[in-house]
Amino acid sequence: DIRKSKGFAGIGFKSIPPNLRVGDRLKNDLVSVPAGYTAKVLVAWGDPIASGGPTWLANASQDAAAQEKQFGMHADGMHYFPLSPGNVVGRAVSSQARSLRGFINQPINNGLLCVNHEYTQESILHSDGLDPVSIAKVRKSQAAHGVSVVEISKQGKEWKYNPNSPYGRRITANTEMRISGPAAGDPLLKSKKFDIRPDGSVDTGRFNDGYTAYGTVNNCANGYTPWGTYLTCEENWNGYFGNNGEALVSTPGIPDAEVLAGQNRYGLSASGAGYKWHQADPRFNNRTNPLESHSFGWVVEIDPYDPQSKPVKRTALGRFKHESAQVVVDDRNNVAFYMGDDERNEYIYKFVCSQRLNPGNRNANRDLLDNGVLYVAKFNDNGTGQWIPLVHGQRGLTAENGFKNQAEVLVKTRQAADRVGATMMDRPEWTAVRPRIGGYKEIEVYCTLTNNNRRGTTPVSINNADGSTGAGSARPPVNAANPRPDNRFGHIIRWREDGRTVTTTTFTWDIFLEAGDKTRTESNLQGNIKGDDLSSPDGLWFDDFGRLWIQTDHAGDGTGDLVNIGSNTMSCADPNTKQVRRFLTSPTDCEVTGITTTPDGKAMFINIQHPGDSGDTLNPTKTSNWPASQGYGPSGRPRSATVVITRIDGGVIGGL
Ligand code: FEO
Ligand code: CA
Ligand code: CA
Ligand code: CA
Repeated sequence: DIRKSKGFAGIGFKSIPPNLRVGDRLKNDLVSVPAGYTAKVLVAWGDPIASGGPTWLANASQDAAAQEKQFGMHADGMHYFPLSPGNVVGRAVSSQARSLRGFINQPINNGLLCVNHEYTQESILHSDGLDPVSIAKVRKSQAAHGVSVVEISKQGKEWKYNPNSPYGRRITANTEMRISGPAAGDPLLKSKKFDIRPDGSVDTGRFNDGYTAYGTVNNCANGYTPWGTYLTCEENWNGYFGNNGEALVSTPGIPDAEVLAGQNRYGLSASGAGYKWHQADPRFNNRTNPLESHSFGWVVEIDPYDPQSKPVKRTALGRFKHESAQVVVDDRNNVAFYMGDDERNEYIYKFVCSQRLNPGNRNANRDLLDNGVLYVAKFNDNGTGQWIPLVHGQRGLTAENGFKNQAEVLVKTRQAADRVGATMMDRPEWTAVRPRIGGYKEIEVYCTLTNNNRRGTTPVSINNADGSTGAGSARPPVNAANPRPDNRFGHIIRWREDGRTVTTTTFTWDIFLEAGDKTRTESNLQGNIKGDDLSSPDGLWFDDFGRLWIQTDHAGDGTGDLVNIGSNTMSCADPNTKQVRRFLTSPTDCEVTGITTTPDGKAMFINIQHPGDSGDTLNPTKTSNWPASQGYGPSGRPRSATVVITRIDGGVIGGL
């Protein structure tokens, strides 16, 4: 009986069928959930969420100024903060350690939803597409990135957003931020200073002070802190930079070769990912303003309860393509955050704060993220593992090897991890922490390894041009933690911290599941899922009742490898038996990502990202008409949106 299993309250819904392709399209251009549940669109791209924001227009003719007060595009990670700041610390700490009973009867039906906006689809964002690019279009694109703070509340039986909330806020690619931690003030962060004006970036002829940054981009997964702040994580920020063939502008005291090696290791290129920002906004030119990219790749802390607060880039947590930063507070109030770097053959990290949590005093914790040790994971083939510290002066992280001080170790986190011999993983996406409830006491962390088509074909000795391993040309052999060559469906790994403390440097690990299609006979594609198959696990989250929720991100048209899997999904897994049940299927050509609930577990929020993105940027709207297809807003232009899921009987989502 699963209800008697430790640390798990059971799954009470019947799984739904996959949304497969029928003819030339998916069967349903809808979010579908089990019988007894409802799924309704709460807020969509372009909806006004800050005072003075205009109503969205379906012809996409609105400008950057409008977008700065509207919900951003392509929503990803998010977190619900109850709108009662006195409860904040109790909520976060207790979700790690409290018993199940006692919290369920504490509904909090008013809160702030912090939502990441990972990227933009330029052909949908602008009424006439991206070309010809202009500063007006770039400014709108920048305004559609970042984070939304949205006030929501339950009115009768319906959840609604407040278009005039005093907390309503957009943080964009141009919002002024503070840089803190060991890398703050370092010469590597003193890029050119621009006046960020609506009509263009104006080069002031001066340089930033190393303590100031502008904006956040590619905010993919997320985290929160026990002191009631939101963490937004910068993933594929490299794609916003490019150049037009200019020569590298040298920086006194920093060798050109060092700058270029860093750009290479993090995947910067001349063309970028196609946003063309650098063509209109010289701040994003990686040759004429080469240090600007050092101000991206961080975890950014935002206080949603203070709309005037300045977001802070916390450099102590390292610079890479950040996925989520999930917190654990152990029994001695030590605090750690677990993080992935999502690229093929990159690493898993944890950051352990030097200072312990002060549960009774919010302000005492405000700079916990500035001091601590960043570790990178080594997974041994025998099921043990080590956390290797990335500390200047240790293990070759010295000036002779290109790391002058701890600031340089952090700006060059990937190169530091290469040097200490960490284990290259199959694209680490989200981390999730199992709640210690109902007698379950282990500190157990899960991580999605979404897929890797560069695994197992050639030896690891093929390195990048700068001598580093990791992404790029490396195609490392399989190992126990990444056991499948050409891992097209991905897997989920988990580890338990030795001694039930976050300060340990050793752990044990196993693979929770290998995703796949059980009708396939190829050993790298079949998987070993008990229950409903899925592919490319990405979003990952434990609810407060021990249920593991798994969201997916693969091609969303039900073709090729996905003929039996169909649309992207959200499933729910039992961490003890590993049984998986499909809970949600999605519209065409989207990904399912972002997950949070109210503290009582009775309202769940998820995001549908990039509906209709078939990869055909010239004709993007042809594959999906969502959310109009689900009764929300006008037809013709698909919109990423947040969906609220409730149970008709008012029960806990996923529960018995
Ligand atoms: Fe933006 Fe790694 O997903
Ligand atoms: Ca995404
Ligand atoms: Ca993701
Ligand atoms: Ca992904």
